[in-house]
Amino acid sequence: MPTITYIDHDGTERPIEAKNGETVMETAIKNSVPGIDADCGGACACATCHVYVEESFMDKVGQPEEMEQSMLDFAENVQANSRLSCQIQISDELDGLRVTTPESQH
Ligand code: FES
Repeated sequence: MPTITYIDHDGTERPIEAKNGETVMETAIKNSVPGIDADCGGACACATCHVYVEESFMDKVGQPEEMEQSMLDFAENVQANSRLSCQIQISDELDGLRVTTPESQH
């Protein structure tokens, strides 16, 4: 099972064993990770699941699609490595992924 590490804006790390096929957002909700509210339930319509993807995983995670990109325009403090975690599907390839939640979501 791939391990995803969620990091708070203050540096607290939470490594979690994730299931392939679920999203980074779903795994966070199931494990009560703070900072990911997912108000829209994963429909790419709220941007409250905004995370920063660790640079070394940017290629594997890929770029946001058009709908996600336009939703990211509503998120605060967007950076080049910003993604909506409900749009990142977990696979073995993402084992070791580290994502940081923005300070504005705490
Ligand atoms: S959960 Fe709403 S955009 Fe991701």
